[in-house]
Amino acid sequence: MAAIVVVNNNTFHLQGRESSYIMALNESGDLLHVYFGKKLKDRDYSKMRTSWHAWTAFDPDGCTLENAPQEYPSYGYTDLRPPAYLVKNGQGNCVSQLKYSGYEIYEGETPKIQGLPCVTEGNKSVSTLAIKLSDGQAGICVTLYYTVFDEYDVIVRSAVITNISNDNVEIKSAYSANIDMARTEKDIIYFSGGWAREREYVRRRLCQGEICDIANARGGSGHCINPFIMIADKAADENSGEVHGFSLIYSGNHSSRVSCDQLGNIRVQQGINPFGFSWKIGSGESFYTPQSVIVYSDNGIGGISRELHDLYRYNLCRSKWSDKPRPVLINNWEATYFDFDEEKLISIAQKAKETGIELFVLDDGWFGNRNDDRRGLGDWYVNKSKLPSGIDGLAERINDIGLKFGLWIEPEMVNPDSDLYRAHPDWAIHVPGREPAQSRSQLILDLSRKEVCDYIIKAISDLLSSANIEYIKWDMNRPMTDMPCEGYNHKYTLGFYRIMEAITGAFPNVLFEGCSGGGGRFDAGVLAYMPQIWTSDNSDAVARYKIQYSTSMGYPVSSMGAHVTASPNHQNGRQTSLETRANTAYAGIFGYELDITKMSSDEIDEVKKQVAFYKDIRHLIVSGDFYRLISPYETNYCSWCVVSKDKSEAFVFIGRVLSIADYEDQVIKLYGLSEDFDYKDVISDKIYGGDELMYMGIRPSFKTQDFASVIMHLKKI
Ligand code: DGJ
Repeated sequence: MAAIVVVNNNTFHLQGRESSYIMALNESGDLLHVYFGKKLKDRDYSKMRTSWHAWTAFDPDGCTLENAPQEYPSYGYTDLRPPAYLVKNGQGNCVSQLKYSGYEIYEGETPKIQGLPCVTEGNKSVSTLAIKLSDGQAGICVTLYYTVFDEYDVIVRSAVITNISNDNVEIKSAYSANIDMARTEKDIIYFSGGWAREREYVRRRLCQGEICDIANARGGSGHCINPFIMIADKAADENSGEVHGFSLIYSGNHSSRVSCDQLGNIRVQQGINPFGFSWKIGSGESFYTPQSVIVYSDNGIGGISRELHDLYRYNLCRSKWSDKPRPVLINNWEATYFDFDEEKLISIAQKAKETGIELFVLDDGWFGNRNDDRRGLGDWYVNKSKLPSGIDGLAERINDIGLKFGLWIEPEMVNPDSDLYRAHPDWAIHVPGREPAQSRSQLILDLSRKEVCDYIIKAISDLLSSANIEYIKWDMNRPMTDMPCEGYNHKYTLGFYRIMEAITGAFPNVLFEGCSGGGGRFDAGVLAYMPQIWTSDNSDAVARYKIQYSTSMGYPVSSMGAHVTASPNHQNGRQTSLETRANTAYAGIFGYELDITKMSSDEIDEVKKQVAFYKDIRHLIVSGDFYRLISPYETNYCSWCVVSKDKSEAFVFIGRVLSIADYEDQVIKLYGLSEDFDYKDVISDKIYGGDELMYMGIRPSFKTQDFASVIMHLKKI
């Protein structure tokens, strides 16, 4: 099957696996949106009605663009809704009206966007349509890119604004995509939260006349609002109904703006947050927006998730680890915090090796004068009084034990109390003459400056070349302040991507894990370079029900770092069993983050079984289809399953929050299995029909205690 772009009598029809995206030109050369939904046959859609409403406020020809669904609406003419872009021209006004000026089709190609991560062809059949629009008087030309894949129901959009005037122009906003949807009752779904509560699921009805800006301007993509939203039919749920998803491949300040006009029609725009943004381009220069991935599903939210999971695993993340099983790790952070020496680390690694753990990760505190979180960031050389063998020597000792060695770094930061800051105080982001705000006693390095990026690339490359480091946890622990100019956050983000490109490109075998005070930069831009991201500093199993459940709506479980930590939990004090802590973490990139040397021999035996179990199912985590079964946002339970693509194997998790006396537990119906297969749960040795598991369901038998959980490992017999 080929991804298809059909151009037919002034209509453009993009056909994905089971979806159609249709645009049309009207007689005045405006590019109108016609449809993005279930696949349609190709017809002459130019005859179809492209305006929603006959009433007009404007003379003389009665054409009111406000009544028409558009692809990239301008400001200043007859559409009074929020525009997709705002450019101040040489005359000092922002009025423009884009008219069609041509198109090109690139078969087999995805666009390569200057300085930004973007989707790739992979082994898929793909086509890209580029439509040119321009306004000579405003001095701008806009090229809209639309990429369609044979195997997905996604359209990947971006825009390039080029200055075709002789003056400078100032871009005040430039969304990556705009879609106008005809009025029906729709819900908006987005992901709010904060530190240790990342990506909380929020769903509510859209109301006529409102504008919701699901936006973040805190520097990175943020703990509080994620650059992923959905617009769902009011009746749509996990497995049925029409849903559109919008996911931005970007790690800086973002906005997903949804407006519902006076007629109830819905406009969705996604891109760089216009707040604090401005970008001047000279004659002949262009500005490139990041890509917005727009997904269609007529089988509910789950359909959106599975499209994004596969797209991101196979056509975004360039790491060789993207669809490969990852090593089970142990991280020393919650075991020791800053209080460790070489022998303590070695004792953790030795115990870990006994259990089958494969990778030892040394977290914060190994470098410079970093004995607490107030100093040392920027000084990426080993603290010999803690680690006399150096990083190379320690890596060797860890390797001799039989484990891989990994390291934590936070290269975008500097503490004022560091050699780097003393040598280059001007390298931290600041406004001349003002004292920059500190957060966790640190400042952010100015990645808009080439020499600062070059320094980071060299320092980290030297570190990676100096020892056998096979894993890196790349942290970023504060919001951005003191930005010296408008548009600064985007300049910084481009610097971050340049560094990512250079380092992950030069060290393709290293497994990179993103992190930002937990999951504060959990986005598709980071995923392009790092196949896994630390999901949240909140590692309590029950808090993780929600965090992992809603994160999986937009991101693959193979991207979610999930660790078994100590009980009582360090973030919220909850006590849970070792069993439930592991059961919850299996649906992610599994590891331990506790002082394993303090575990009893019974606990060590349990850890051995857990590690062996994860090794048995981890191929499912990196390549299977993920189904959410019961929502912890709505019930006392949380359940999900991951099913192999050929449906022959599945991992099932069912967690309960509170135990209730004399009460029937909820029946769980599985999804994604084959009704024609019989399966054996190799944990309980029970045999079930696929139809039985999906249609009749199972009633799990929990232990009589709070926070109990049950898992199944189903294999086709
Ligand atoms: C924040 C991360 O989320 C933690 O896992 C840990 O690495 C600390 N930073 C170290 O400072």
